[in-house]
Amino acid sequence: MNIVIGGHVDHGKSTVVGRLMADTGSLPEGKLEQVRAHCARNSRPFEYAFLLDALKDEQAQGITIDSARVFFKTALRDYILIDAPGHIEFLRNLVTGAARAEAALLVVDAAEGLQENSRRHGYMMSMLGIRRLAVLVNKMDLVGYDRDAFDRIATEYREFLGTLGVEPEAVVPVCARDGGNIAQRSREMPWYDGPTVLELVDTFPVEPPPTDQPFRMPVQDVYKFTSGGDDRRIVAGTVESGTASPGMELVFYPSGKRSRVKTIESFNREPPTSASAGEATGFTLTEQVYVARGEIATRSDELPPRVGTRIRASVFWLGRESMVPGREYGLRLGTTRTTAHLETLHRVIDASNLSAQEGKTCIARHDVAECTLRLARPIAFDRTEDLASTSRFVLVDGYEISGGGIVRDAMVDPHAAVHEGVLIRNAKWESSLITRERRASRYGQHPAMVLVTGADEAARKVAAKSLESLLFDEGRAVYYSGIGNVVYGVDADLGRAKEDRQEHIRRLGEVANLMLDAGLILVATASELAEEEAALVRATISGAACCVVWVGDAVTTDLRHDLHLRTEDAHERGATEIKRVLQELGILLRSR
Ligand code: GTP
Ligand code: MG
Repeated sequence: MNIVIGGHVDHGKSTVVGRLMADTGSLPEGKLEQVRAHCARNSRPFEYAFLLDALKDEQAQGITIDSARVFFKTALRDYILIDAPGHIEFLRNLVTGAARAEAALLVVDAAEGLQENSRRHGYMMSMLGIRRLAVLVNKMDLVGYDRDAFDRIATEYREFLGTLGVEPEAVVPVCARDGGNIAQRSREMPWYDGPTVLELVDTFPVEPPPTDQPFRMPVQDVYKFTSGGDDRRIVAGTVESGTASPGMELVFYPSGKRSRVKTIESFNREPPTSASAGEATGFTLTEQVYVARGEIATRSDELPPRVGTRIRASVFWLGRESMVPGREYGLRLGTTRTTAHLETLHRVIDASNLSAQEGKTCIARHDVAECTLRLARPIAFDRTEDLASTSRFVLVDGYEISGGGIVRDAMVDPHAAVHEGVLIRNAKWESSLITRERRASRYGQHPAMVLVTGADEAARKVAAKSLESLLFDEGRAVYYSGIGNVVYGVDADLGRAKEDRQEHIRRLGEVANLMLDAGLILVATASELAEEEAALVRATISGAACCVVWVGDAVTTDLRHDLHLRTEDAHERGATEIKRVLQELGILLRSR
Protein backbone atom coordinates (compact mmCIF):
# COMPACT_ATOMS: atom_id res chain seq x y z
CA MET A 1 0.00 0.00 0.00
CA ASN A 2 1.27 3.44 -0.91
CA ILE A 3 0.87 6.13 1.70
CA VAL A 4 1.84 9.75 1.28
CA ILE A 5 2.78 11.82 4.28
CA GLY A 6 2.18 15.55 4.46
CA GLY A 7 2.17 18.37 6.94
CA HIS A 8 3.79 21.67 7.76
CA VAL A 9 7.54 22.20 7.97
CA ASP A 10 9.08 20.72 11.14
CA HIS A 11 5.85 19.22 12.38
CA GLY A 12 7.54 15.83 12.43
CA LYS A 13 6.86 14.03 9.13
CA SER A 14 10.36 12.59 8.83
CA THR A 15 10.34 11.58 12.49
CA VAL A 16 7.10 9.68 12.00
CA VAL A 17 8.53 7.96 8.93
CA GLY A 18 11.81 7.10 10.72
CA ARG A 19 9.88 5.73 13.67
CA LEU A 20 7.60 3.62 11.51
CA MET A 21 10.62 2.05 9.85
CA ALA A 22 12.59 1.54 13.05
CA ASP A 23 9.68 0.23 15.12
CA THR A 24 8.63 -2.29 12.48
CA GLY A 25 12.17 -3.57 12.00
CA SER A 26 12.17 -2.39 8.39
CA LEU A 27 15.55 -0.67 8.49
CA PRO A 28 18.59 -2.23 6.95
CA GLU A 29 20.63 -4.23 9.49
CA GLY A 30 22.69 -1.99 11.78
CA LYS A 31 21.42 1.27 10.28
CA LEU A 32 19.90 2.56 13.52
CA GLU A 33 23.08 1.86 15.51
CA GLN A 34 25.21 3.39 12.77
CA VAL A 35 23.26 6.64 12.77
CA ARG A 36 23.20 6.77 16.58
CA ALA A 37 26.96 6.27 16.70
CA HIS A 38 27.46 8.92 14.04
CA CYS A 39 25.43 11.39 16.11
CA ALA A 40 27.35 10.53 19.27
CA ARG A 41 30.70 11.05 17.50
CA ASN A 42 29.58 14.45 16.32
CA SER A 43 27.96 15.28 19.68
CA ARG A 44 24.58 15.78 18.09
CA PRO A 45 21.39 14.55 19.65
CA PHE A 46 20.03 11.57 17.71
CA GLU A 47 16.98 12.24 15.53
CA TYR A 48 14.80 9.67 13.83
CA ALA A 49 14.61 12.01 10.87
CA PHE A 50 18.34 11.42 10.27
CA LEU A 51 17.54 7.85 9.35
CA LEU A 52 15.86 9.11 6.22
CA ASP A 53 18.79 11.30 5.31
CA ALA A 54 21.13 8.37 5.84
CA LEU A 55 18.99 6.19 3.61
CA LYS A 56 18.75 8.89 0.98
CA ASP A 57 22.53 9.31 0.91
CA GLU A 58 22.79 5.61 0.38
CA GLN A 59 20.23 5.71 -2.36
CA ALA A 60 21.93 8.65 -4.03
CA GLN A 61 25.10 6.56 -4.29
CA GLY A 62 23.36 3.37 -5.12
CA ILE A 63 20.86 2.20 -7.60
CA THR A 64 17.62 2.43 -5.69
CA ILE A 65 14.60 4.12 -7.25
CA ASP A 66 13.62 7.68 -6.43
CA SER A 67 14.68 9.04 -3.09
CA ALA A 68 11.26 10.26 -2.00
CA ARG A 69 10.09 6.75 -1.14
CA VAL A 70 10.86 4.49 1.79
CA PHE A 71 9.49 1.12 2.80
CA PHE A 72 8.21 -0.53 5.94
CA LYS A 73 6.28 -3.67 6.64
CA THR A 74 3.87 -4.93 9.20
CA ALA A 75 2.73 -8.49 9.81
CA LEU A 76 -0.15 -7.72 7.43
CA ARG A 77 1.58 -6.18 4.39
CA ASP A 78 4.27 -3.97 2.86
CA TYR A 79 4.04 -0.22 2.69
CA ILE A 80 5.63 2.44 0.59
CA LEU A 81 5.78 5.82 2.28
CA ILE A 82 6.08 8.85 0.09
CA ASP A 83 7.54 11.83 1.91
CA ALA A 84 5.70 14.87 0.59
CA PRO A 85 8.46 17.51 0.78
CA GLY A 86 9.65 15.94 -2.44
CA HIS A 87 6.17 16.59 -3.70
CA ILE A 88 7.11 17.43 -7.26
CA GLU A 89 8.29 13.83 -7.34
CA PHE A 90 5.10 12.84 -5.66
CA LEU A 91 3.10 14.66 -8.30
CA ARG A 92 4.95 13.01 -11.11
CA ASN A 93 4.41 9.60 -9.57
CA LEU A 94 0.80 10.29 -8.95
CA VAL A 95 0.06 11.37 -12.46
CA THR A 96 2.22 8.83 -14.21
CA GLY A 97 0.79 6.15 -11.95
CA ALA A 98 4.26 5.04 -10.80
CA ALA A 99 3.19 5.25 -7.18
CA ARG A 100 -0.41 6.07 -6.80
CA ALA A 101 -1.02 6.98 -3.18
CA GLU A 102 -3.95 5.14 -1.70
CA ALA A 103 -3.95 6.93 1.63
CA ALA A 104 -2.41 9.92 3.33
CA LEU A 105 -1.17 10.82 6.78
CA LEU A 106 -1.22 14.48 7.73
CA VAL A 107 1.09 15.41 10.59
CA VAL A 108 0.34 18.46 12.71
CA ASP A 109 2.33 19.86 15.62
CA ALA A 110 0.23 19.88 18.82
CA ALA A 111 1.91 23.04 20.10
CA GLU A 112 1.85 25.02 16.86
CA GLY A 113 -1.53 23.84 15.63
CA LEU A 114 -2.69 24.01 12.02
CA GLN A 115 -0.34 25.88 9.70
CA GLU A 116 -0.48 26.67 5.98
CA ASN A 117 0.78 23.31 4.76
CA SER A 118 -1.46 21.43 7.15
CA ARG A 119 -4.37 22.66 5.09
CA ARG A 120 -2.65 22.95 1.74
CA HIS A 121 -1.52 19.33 1.70
CA GLY A 122 -4.98 18.26 2.78
CA TYR A 123 -6.43 20.21 -0.10
CA MET A 124 -4.00 18.80 -2.67
CA MET A 125 -4.58 15.27 -1.56
CA SER A 126 -8.34 15.52 -1.61
CA MET A 127 -8.18 17.17 -5.02
CA LEU A 128 -6.06 14.34 -6.35
CA GLY A 129 -8.65 11.91 -5.17
CA ILE A 130 -6.91 10.44 -2.12
CA ARG A 131 -9.96 9.74 -0.05
CA ARG A 132 -8.43 7.86 2.87
CA LEU A 133 -6.81 10.34 5.15
CA ALA A 134 -5.71 10.30 8.78
CA VAL A 135 -4.40 13.08 11.00
CA LEU A 136 -1.53 12.59 13.44
CA VAL A 137 -1.38 15.24 16.16
CA ASN A 138 2.33 15.05 16.93
CA LYS A 139 4.58 16.34 19.72
CA MET A 140 1.92 15.70 22.34
CA ASP A 141 4.74 15.92 24.92
CA LEU A 142 4.96 19.66 24.21
CA VAL A 143 1.38 20.17 25.41
CA GLY A 144 1.74 17.90 28.43
CA TYR A 145 -0.24 15.11 26.70
CA ASP A 146 -3.29 17.25 27.29
CA ARG A 147 -6.54 15.88 25.99
CA ASP A 148 -8.19 19.29 25.50
CA ALA A 149 -5.29 20.56 23.42
CA PHE A 150 -5.62 17.46 21.26
CA ASP A 151 -9.39 17.82 20.92
CA ARG A 152 -9.10 21.44 19.82
CA ILE A 153 -6.71 20.60 17.00
CA ALA A 154 -8.64 17.48 16.04
CA THR A 155 -11.86 19.48 15.77
CA GLU A 156 -10.23 22.24 13.76
CA TYR A 157 -8.68 19.78 11.30
CA ARG A 158 -11.89 17.79 10.98
CA GLU A 159 -13.78 21.00 10.18
CA PHE A 160 -11.29 22.00 7.54
CA LEU A 161 -11.28 18.58 5.86
CA GLY A 162 -15.07 18.58 6.10
CA THR A 163 -15.20 21.65 3.86
CA LEU A 164 -13.30 19.57 1.29
CA GLY A 165 -15.79 16.77 1.68
CA VAL A 166 -13.25 14.53 3.39
CA GLU A 167 -13.81 12.75 6.66
CA PRO A 168 -10.56 11.58 8.30
CA GLU A 169 -10.42 7.88 9.13
CA ALA A 170 -8.96 8.76 12.51
CA VAL A 171 -7.15 11.49 14.42
CA VAL A 172 -4.33 10.04 16.52
CA PRO A 173 -2.40 11.84 19.27
CA VAL A 174 1.26 10.81 18.93
CA CYS A 175 4.70 11.57 20.23
CA ALA A 176 6.80 10.51 17.27
CA ARG A 177 10.10 11.30 18.94
CA ASP A 178 9.43 8.75 21.69
CA GLY A 179 7.33 6.43 19.58
CA GLY A 180 4.13 7.08 21.53
CA ASN A 181 1.08 5.71 19.68
CA ILE A 182 3.17 4.97 16.60
CA ALA A 183 3.81 1.25 17.03
CA GLN A 184 3.35 1.16 20.81
CA ARG A 185 0.49 2.55 22.80
CA SER A 186 1.51 5.66 24.72
CA ARG A 187 1.42 5.32 28.50
CA GLU A 188 1.17 9.09 28.79
CA MET A 189 -2.20 9.26 27.05
CA PRO A 190 -4.44 6.73 28.73
CA TRP A 191 -7.43 8.84 27.73
CA TYR A 192 -6.93 7.85 24.09
CA ASP A 193 -8.55 4.56 23.19
CA GLY A 194 -8.31 4.70 19.40
CA PRO A 195 -5.80 2.83 17.22
CA THR A 196 -2.04 3.41 17.09
CA VAL A 197 -0.69 4.59 13.74
CA LEU A 198 0.35 1.06 12.80
CA GLU A 199 -3.00 -0.41 13.76
CA LEU A 200 -4.64 2.34 11.80
CA VAL A 201 -2.74 1.87 8.52
CA ASP A 202 -3.38 -1.85 8.67
CA THR A 203 -7.12 -1.10 8.69
CA PHE A 204 -6.95 0.93 5.47
CA PRO A 205 -8.65 -1.25 2.90
CA VAL A 206 -6.79 -1.81 -0.33
CA GLU A 207 -8.73 0.02 -3.00
CA PRO A 208 -9.64 -2.49 -5.67
CA PRO A 209 -8.48 -1.32 -9.09
CA PRO A 210 -11.41 0.37 -10.85
CA THR A 211 -12.31 -2.57 -13.09
CA ASP A 212 -16.00 -1.72 -13.13
CA GLN A 213 -15.46 1.68 -14.73
CA PRO A 214 -15.17 2.43 -18.44
CA PHE A 215 -12.06 0.99 -20.07
CA ARG A 216 -9.14 3.39 -20.48
CA MET A 217 -5.65 2.51 -21.58
CA PRO A 218 -3.29 5.34 -22.49
CA VAL A 219 -1.13 4.00 -25.30
CA GLN A 220 2.45 3.81 -24.15
CA ASP A 221 3.97 2.37 -27.26
CA VAL A 222 3.24 0.33 -30.36
CA TYR A 223 5.59 -2.58 -30.95
CA LYS A 224 6.05 -4.26 -34.28
CA PHE A 225 6.52 -7.96 -34.70
CA THR A 226 9.92 -8.42 -36.19
CA SER A 227 9.53 -11.95 -37.50
CA GLY A 228 9.16 -12.59 -41.22
CA GLY A 229 7.45 -9.58 -42.78
CA ASP A 230 4.64 -9.68 -40.24
CA ASP A 231 2.69 -6.43 -40.19
CA ARG A 232 0.93 -7.02 -36.89
CA ARG A 233 1.82 -4.90 -33.93
CA ILE A 234 1.17 -4.81 -30.22
CA VAL A 235 -0.46 -1.77 -28.68
CA ALA A 236 0.97 -1.55 -25.17
CA GLY A 237 0.10 0.40 -22.06
CA THR A 238 -1.21 0.23 -18.53
CA VAL A 239 -4.94 -0.11 -18.08
CA GLU A 240 -6.12 2.78 -15.89
CA SER A 241 -9.67 1.58 -15.50
CA GLY A 242 -12.11 -1.00 -16.78
CA THR A 243 -11.60 -4.24 -18.66
CA ALA A 244 -11.23 -5.30 -22.30
CA SER A 245 -11.25 -8.75 -23.89
CA PRO A 246 -10.60 -10.21 -27.34
CA GLY A 247 -13.44 -9.49 -29.77
CA MET A 248 -14.33 -6.15 -28.23
CA GLU A 249 -14.33 -3.07 -30.41
CA LEU A 250 -11.89 -0.38 -29.32
CA VAL A 251 -11.92 3.30 -30.21
CA PHE A 252 -8.69 5.26 -29.89
CA TYR A 253 -9.01 8.91 -28.96
CA PRO A 254 -8.38 11.66 -29.96
CA SER A 255 -8.14 10.16 -33.45
CA GLY A 256 -11.39 8.16 -33.28
CA LYS A 257 -9.81 5.17 -35.04
CA ARG A 258 -11.47 1.82 -34.45
CA SER A 259 -10.44 -1.78 -34.41
CA ARG A 260 -11.16 -4.98 -32.48
CA VAL A 261 -8.98 -6.68 -29.91
CA LYS A 262 -7.61 -9.82 -31.50
CA THR A 263 -5.39 -11.17 -28.74
CA ILE A 264 -4.05 -10.00 -25.42
CA GLU A 265 -0.35 -10.61 -25.20
CA SER A 266 1.71 -11.53 -22.20
CA PHE A 267 5.21 -12.70 -21.47
CA ASN A 268 5.81 -16.30 -20.54
CA ARG A 269 2.26 -17.30 -19.85
CA GLU A 270 -0.95 -18.28 -21.53
CA PRO A 271 -2.59 -15.39 -23.37
CA PRO A 272 -4.97 -13.83 -20.82
CA THR A 273 -8.67 -13.61 -21.62
CA SER A 274 -8.94 -10.00 -20.49
CA ALA A 275 -6.88 -6.99 -19.46
CA SER A 276 -8.07 -5.04 -16.44
CA ALA A 277 -7.35 -1.92 -14.43
CA GLY A 278 -3.89 -1.84 -12.93
CA GLU A 279 -2.36 -4.25 -15.45
CA ALA A 280 0.43 -3.44 -17.85
CA THR A 281 -0.61 -5.17 -21.04
CA GLY A 282 -0.53 -5.21 -24.79
CA PHE A 283 -2.92 -6.37 -27.46
CA THR A 284 -3.02 -7.06 -31.13
CA LEU A 285 -5.85 -5.75 -33.31
CA THR A 286 -7.88 -7.46 -35.99
CA GLU A 287 -7.57 -4.55 -38.36
CA GLN A 288 -4.36 -2.55 -38.55
CA VAL A 289 -5.06 1.07 -37.70
CA TYR A 290 -2.29 3.55 -37.19
CA VAL A 291 -2.25 4.62 -33.54
CA ALA A 292 0.59 6.18 -31.66
CA ARG A 293 1.69 6.87 -28.12
CA GLY A 294 -0.56 9.43 -26.47
CA GLU A 295 -3.90 8.12 -27.65
CA ILE A 296 -6.28 6.57 -25.17
CA ALA A 297 -7.79 3.18 -25.99
CA THR A 298 -11.44 2.93 -24.97
CA ARG A 299 -14.34 0.56 -25.66
CA SER A 300 -16.97 1.50 -28.21
CA ASP A 301 -19.78 0.19 -25.98
CA GLU A 302 -18.86 2.41 -23.02
CA LEU A 303 -18.80 6.09 -22.08
CA PRO A 304 -16.47 7.84 -24.55
CA PRO A 305 -13.85 10.26 -23.22
CA ARG A 306 -13.96 13.95 -24.11
CA VAL A 307 -11.86 15.32 -26.93
CA GLY A 308 -11.01 18.97 -27.22
CA THR A 309 -8.61 21.84 -26.87
CA ARG A 310 -10.23 23.77 -24.02
CA ILE A 311 -10.51 22.44 -20.52
CA ARG A 312 -11.85 23.83 -17.30
CA ALA A 313 -9.40 22.71 -14.65
CA SER A 314 -8.38 22.98 -11.04
CA VAL A 315 -4.67 23.58 -10.95
CA PHE A 316 -2.18 23.81 -8.13
CA TRP A 317 1.12 25.39 -8.78
CA LEU A 318 4.46 24.54 -7.21
CA GLY A 319 6.76 26.30 -9.64
CA ARG A 320 9.19 28.93 -8.42
CA GLU A 321 7.90 31.27 -11.08
CA SER A 322 4.18 31.95 -11.22
CA MET A 323 1.99 30.49 -13.91
CA VAL A 324 1.06 33.40 -16.15
CA PRO A 325 -1.18 33.99 -19.15
CA GLY A 326 0.68 34.26 -22.44
CA ARG A 327 3.30 31.69 -21.54
CA GLU A 328 3.39 28.13 -22.83
CA TYR A 329 3.50 25.14 -20.56
CA GLY A 330 3.87 21.47 -21.28
CA LEU A 331 0.84 19.42 -20.34
CA ARG A 332 1.00 15.66 -19.74
CA LEU A 333 -2.10 13.61 -19.27
CA GLY A 334 -1.79 9.86 -19.41
CA THR A 335 0.82 9.36 -22.12
CA THR A 336 -0.19 12.49 -24.06
CA ARG A 337 2.02 15.49 -24.23
CA THR A 338 1.01 18.83 -25.62
CA THR A 339 1.37 22.49 -24.78
CA ALA A 340 -1.15 24.60 -22.93
CA HIS A 341 -1.66 28.19 -22.00
CA LEU A 342 -3.74 29.88 -19.42
CA GLU A 343 -6.72 31.27 -21.29
CA THR A 344 -8.82 32.49 -18.37
CA LEU A 345 -8.14 32.59 -14.68
CA HIS A 346 -11.55 32.26 -13.04
CA ARG A 347 -10.55 32.14 -9.42
CA VAL A 348 -7.41 31.82 -7.35
CA ILE A 349 -7.84 30.16 -3.99
CA ASP A 350 -5.49 30.34 -1.07
CA ALA A 351 -5.30 26.63 -0.27
CA SER A 352 -4.12 27.36 3.24
CA ASN A 353 -7.49 28.83 4.19
CA LEU A 354 -9.66 28.25 1.12
CA SER A 355 -10.33 31.97 0.71
CA ALA A 356 -10.65 33.39 -2.78
CA GLN A 357 -7.92 35.85 -3.62
CA GLU A 358 -9.28 38.84 -5.47
CA GLY A 359 -7.72 40.47 -8.49
CA LYS A 360 -5.06 37.85 -9.12
CA THR A 361 -3.67 37.69 -12.65
CA CYS A 362 -1.33 34.73 -12.17
CA ILE A 363 -1.06 31.51 -10.20
CA ALA A 364 1.72 31.89 -7.67
CA ARG A 365 3.63 29.09 -6.00
CA HIS A 366 1.34 27.09 -3.71
CA ASP A 367 -1.78 28.71 -5.14
CA VAL A 368 -4.71 26.67 -6.30
CA ALA A 369 -6.79 28.02 -9.16
CA GLU A 370 -9.85 27.38 -11.24
CA CYS A 371 -8.96 28.18 -14.81
CA THR A 372 -9.54 27.47 -18.46
CA LEU A 373 -6.55 26.02 -20.29
CA ARG A 374 -6.16 26.14 -24.03
CA LEU A 375 -4.26 23.28 -25.62
CA ALA A 376 -2.25 23.36 -28.84
CA ARG A 377 -4.04 20.32 -30.23
CA PRO A 378 -7.03 18.19 -29.30
CA ILE A 379 -6.39 15.55 -26.67
CA ALA A 380 -8.57 12.91 -25.05
CA PHE A 381 -9.39 13.14 -21.34
CA ASP A 382 -12.14 12.52 -18.84
CA ARG A 383 -13.85 14.83 -16.40
CA THR A 384 -12.78 14.13 -12.85
CA GLU A 385 -16.33 13.26 -11.86
CA ASP A 386 -16.47 10.60 -14.58
CA LEU A 387 -13.04 8.99 -14.23
CA ALA A 388 -10.33 10.24 -11.91
CA SER A 389 -7.16 8.82 -13.43
CA THR A 390 -7.63 10.07 -16.97
CA SER A 391 -8.56 13.51 -15.63
CA ARG A 392 -5.23 14.12 -13.88
CA PHE A 393 -2.42 16.02 -15.53
CA VAL A 394 0.84 17.73 -14.74
CA LEU A 395 2.11 21.03 -16.07
CA VAL A 396 5.71 21.50 -17.09
CA ASP A 397 7.48 24.85 -17.12
CA GLY A 398 10.63 24.59 -19.20
CA TYR A 399 11.89 21.17 -18.17
CA GLU A 400 10.42 20.99 -14.69
CA ILE A 401 7.14 19.64 -13.51
CA SER A 402 5.72 22.72 -11.84
CA GLY A 403 2.09 22.03 -11.25
CA GLY A 404 -0.69 19.57 -11.43
CA GLY A 405 -4.39 19.49 -11.81
CA ILE A 406 -7.58 17.76 -12.69
CA VAL A 407 -10.02 18.35 -15.50
CA ARG A 408 -13.33 19.60 -14.16
CA ASP A 409 -15.05 19.99 -17.50
CA ALA A 410 -14.64 20.11 -21.23
CA MET A 411 -15.30 23.63 -22.45
CA VAL A 412 -16.97 24.63 -25.68
CA ASP A 413 -14.35 24.29 -28.30
CA PRO A 414 -14.47 26.64 -31.28
CA HIS A 415 -13.63 23.67 -33.47
CA ALA A 416 -15.97 21.17 -31.83
CA ALA A 417 -17.79 20.46 -35.11
CA VAL A 418 -14.48 19.91 -36.87
CA HIS A 419 -13.29 17.46 -34.18
CA GLU A 420 -16.57 15.63 -34.52
CA GLY A 421 -16.11 15.37 -38.28
CA VAL A 422 -12.53 14.14 -37.91
CA LEU A 423 -13.63 11.43 -35.48
CA ILE A 424 -16.22 10.18 -37.94
CA ARG A 425 -13.78 10.37 -40.84
CA ASN A 426 -11.14 8.39 -38.94
CA ALA A 427 -13.69 5.83 -37.79
CA LYS A 428 -14.82 5.28 -41.38
CA TRP A 429 -11.31 5.37 -42.80
CA GLU A 430 -10.52 2.46 -45.08
CA SER A 431 -6.89 1.51 -44.50
CA SER A 432 -4.75 0.15 -47.29
CA LEU A 433 -2.49 -2.89 -47.05
CA ILE A 434 0.59 -0.72 -47.08
CA THR A 435 1.48 0.36 -43.55
CA ARG A 436 2.84 3.71 -42.53
CA GLU A 437 6.12 2.13 -41.58
CA ARG A 438 6.60 0.69 -45.05
CA ARG A 439 5.95 4.05 -46.67
CA ALA A 440 8.24 5.74 -44.16
CA SER A 441 11.04 3.32 -44.86
CA ARG A 442 10.69 3.63 -48.63
CA TYR A 443 10.62 7.45 -48.59
CA GLY A 444 13.06 7.91 -45.72
CA GLN A 445 10.69 10.27 -43.97
CA HIS A 446 7.64 10.52 -41.81
CA PRO A 447 4.65 12.26 -43.38
CA ALA A 448 4.42 15.89 -42.32
CA MET A 449 2.77 19.13 -43.14
CA VAL A 450 4.97 22.19 -43.45
CA LEU A 451 2.87 25.31 -43.13
CA VAL A 452 4.68 28.31 -44.53
CA THR A 453 2.88 31.52 -43.72
CA GLY A 454 3.47 35.23 -43.16
CA ALA A 455 2.68 38.60 -44.66
CA ASP A 456 5.22 38.55 -47.46
CA GLU A 457 3.71 36.51 -50.28
CA ALA A 458 6.75 36.42 -52.53
CA ALA A 459 9.17 35.37 -49.77
CA ARG A 460 6.74 32.73 -48.52
CA LYS A 461 6.45 31.10 -51.89
CA VAL A 462 10.17 31.24 -52.57
CA ALA A 463 10.95 29.51 -49.29
CA ALA A 464 8.28 26.85 -49.77
CA LYS A 465 9.09 26.06 -53.40
CA SER A 466 12.81 25.96 -52.85
CA LEU A 467 12.25 23.61 -49.93
CA GLU A 468 10.24 21.35 -52.21
CA SER A 469 13.03 21.37 -54.79
CA LEU A 470 15.72 20.72 -52.21
CA LEU A 471 13.89 17.72 -50.74
CA PHE A 472 12.80 16.41 -54.12
CA ASP A 473 16.36 16.47 -55.39
CA GLU A 474 17.36 14.41 -52.37
CA GLY A 475 14.85 11.79 -53.47
CA ARG A 476 12.16 12.56 -50.91
CA ALA A 477 8.44 12.35 -51.56
CA VAL A 478 7.41 15.98 -51.28
CA TYR A 479 4.74 18.20 -52.78
CA TYR A 480 4.18 21.94 -52.79
CA SER A 481 0.73 23.47 -52.86
CA GLY A 482 -0.44 27.03 -52.30
CA ILE A 483 -3.76 27.31 -50.49
CA GLY A 484 -5.08 28.81 -53.74
CA ASN A 485 -4.80 25.41 -55.39
CA VAL A 486 -7.45 24.22 -52.96
CA VAL A 487 -9.50 27.40 -52.84
CA TYR A 488 -10.31 27.46 -56.54
CA GLY A 489 -10.80 23.74 -56.94
CA VAL A 490 -11.93 21.72 -53.94
CA ASP A 491 -13.45 24.92 -52.53
CA ALA A 492 -15.15 26.09 -55.73
CA ASP A 493 -18.51 25.95 -53.95
CA LEU A 494 -17.37 28.38 -51.25
CA GLY A 495 -17.28 32.15 -51.28
CA ARG A 496 -14.18 34.22 -50.68
CA ALA A 497 -15.52 36.24 -47.77
CA LYS A 498 -13.85 36.40 -44.40
CA GLU A 499 -16.31 34.00 -42.81
CA ASP A 500 -15.47 31.38 -45.44
CA ARG A 501 -11.82 31.34 -44.42
CA GLN A 502 -12.26 28.76 -41.68
CA GLU A 503 -13.78 26.28 -44.11
CA HIS A 504 -11.03 26.95 -46.67
CA ILE A 505 -8.47 26.12 -44.02
CA ARG A 506 -10.32 23.03 -42.86
CA ARG A 507 -10.39 21.75 -46.43
CA LEU A 508 -6.72 22.50 -46.86
CA GLY A 509 -6.28 20.30 -43.78
CA GLU A 510 -8.38 17.53 -45.35
CA VAL A 511 -6.40 17.63 -48.57
CA ALA A 512 -3.22 17.54 -46.49
CA ASN A 513 -4.56 14.59 -44.54
CA LEU A 514 -4.85 12.56 -47.74
CA MET A 515 -1.36 13.47 -48.85
CA LEU A 516 0.07 12.70 -45.44
CA ASP A 517 -1.66 9.34 -45.47
CA ALA A 518 0.11 8.72 -48.77
CA GLY A 519 3.37 9.30 -46.89
CA LEU A 520 4.22 12.69 -48.39
CA ILE A 521 5.66 15.84 -46.96
CA LEU A 522 3.26 18.57 -47.98
CA VAL A 523 4.63 22.10 -48.10
CA ALA A 524 1.70 24.51 -48.11
CA THR A 525 1.64 28.28 -48.18
CA ALA A 526 -1.13 30.51 -46.83
CA SER A 527 -1.20 34.13 -45.85
CA GLU A 528 -0.90 35.27 -42.23
CA LEU A 529 -2.35 32.33 -40.35
CA ALA A 530 -3.41 32.89 -36.76
CA GLU A 531 -2.89 30.31 -34.02
CA GLU A 532 -6.57 29.43 -34.15
CA GLU A 533 -6.27 28.55 -37.83
CA ALA A 534 -3.12 26.49 -37.38
CA ALA A 535 -4.93 24.66 -34.57
CA LEU A 536 -7.68 23.86 -37.04
CA VAL A 537 -5.17 22.37 -39.47
CA ARG A 538 -3.54 20.33 -36.69
CA ALA A 539 -6.93 19.05 -35.61
CA THR A 540 -7.77 18.03 -39.16
CA ILE A 541 -4.57 16.10 -39.78
CA SER A 542 -5.18 14.44 -36.40
CA GLY A 543 -1.85 14.07 -34.75
CA ALA A 544 0.42 14.00 -37.80
CA ALA A 545 3.55 16.12 -37.64
CA CYS A 546 3.08 19.78 -38.47
CA CYS A 547 5.93 22.25 -38.81
CA VAL A 548 4.99 25.92 -38.80
CA VAL A 549 7.21 28.53 -40.44
CA TRP A 550 6.65 32.26 -40.37
CA VAL A 551 8.17 34.23 -43.22
CA GLY A 552 8.55 38.01 -43.12
CA ASP A 553 10.32 40.54 -40.94
CA ALA A 554 7.46 41.07 -38.51
CA VAL A 555 5.23 38.39 -37.00
CA THR A 556 1.78 39.91 -37.28
CA THR A 557 -0.42 37.23 -35.66
CA ASP A 558 -0.41 35.17 -32.48
CA LEU A 559 0.81 32.09 -34.38
CA ARG A 560 3.21 29.75 -32.56
CA HIS A 561 5.92 28.81 -35.00
CA ASP A 562 8.83 26.41 -35.18
CA LEU A 563 10.86 28.79 -37.30
CA HIS A 564 10.83 32.50 -38.12
CA LEU A 565 12.54 33.48 -41.37
CA ARG A 566 13.15 37.11 -42.16
CA THR A 567 12.39 38.10 -45.74
CA GLU A 568 16.04 38.26 -46.77
CA ASP A 569 16.83 34.91 -45.16
CA ALA A 570 13.80 33.29 -46.77
CA HIS A 571 15.28 34.03 -50.17
CA GLU A 572 18.84 33.09 -49.37
CA ARG A 573 18.64 30.06 -47.15
CA GLY A 574 14.98 29.46 -46.36
CA ALA A 575 15.01 25.92 -47.70
CA THR A 576 18.06 24.77 -45.74
CA GLU A 577 16.77 26.36 -42.53
CA ILE A 578 13.42 24.61 -42.82
CA LYS A 579 15.15 21.36 -43.67
CA ARG A 580 17.21 21.66 -40.49
CA VAL A 581 14.01 22.02 -38.45
CA LEU A 582 12.49 18.99 -40.18
CA GLN A 583 15.58 17.03 -39.21
CA GLU A 584 15.32 18.21 -35.62
CA LEU A 585 11.69 17.17 -35.53
CA GLY A 586 12.68 13.69 -36.66
CA ILE A 587 10.67 13.93 -39.88
CA LEU A 588 13.60 13.26 -42.22
CA LEU A 589 14.87 9.81 -41.39
CA ARG A 590 18.25 9.56 -43.03
CA SER A 591 20.39 11.95 -44.94
CA ARG A 592 20.26 11.53 -48.65
P1 GTP B 1 10.58 19.06 7.26
O1 GTP B 1 10.98 17.83 6.51
O2 GTP B 1 11.68 20.05 7.42
O3 GTP B 1 9.33 19.70 6.76
O4 GTP B 1 10.25 18.62 8.78
P2 GTP B 1 9.51 17.34 9.27
O5 GTP B 1 8.06 17.58 9.28
O6 GTP B 1 10.00 16.15 8.56
O7 GTP B 1 9.96 17.30 10.79
P3 GTP B 1 11.07 16.40 11.47
O8 GTP B 1 10.62 15.01 11.57
O9 GTP B 1 12.38 16.70 10.86
O10 GTP B 1 11.00 16.98 12.94
C1 GTP B 1 11.22 18.36 13.22
C2 GTP B 1 11.67 18.51 14.66
O11 GTP B 1 10.62 18.13 15.54
C3 GTP B 1 12.85 17.63 14.99
O12 GTP B 1 13.76 18.35 15.77
C4 GTP B 1 12.23 16.49 15.79
O13 GTP B 1 13.10 15.95 16.75
C5 GTP B 1 11.10 17.20 16.48
N1 GTP B 1 10.06 16.27 16.86
C6 GTP B 1 9.49 15.31 16.07
N2 GTP B 1 8.58 14.62 16.77
C7 GTP B 1 8.57 15.15 18.01
C8 GTP B 1 7.83 14.85 19.19
O14 GTP B 1 7.00 13.95 19.24
N3 GTP B 1 8.09 15.64 20.26
C9 GTP B 1 9.00 16.63 20.24
N4 GTP B 1 9.16 17.34 21.34
N5 GTP B 1 9.70 16.93 19.15
C10 GTP B 1 9.50 16.19 18.06
MG1 MG C 1 11.26 15.95 6.79
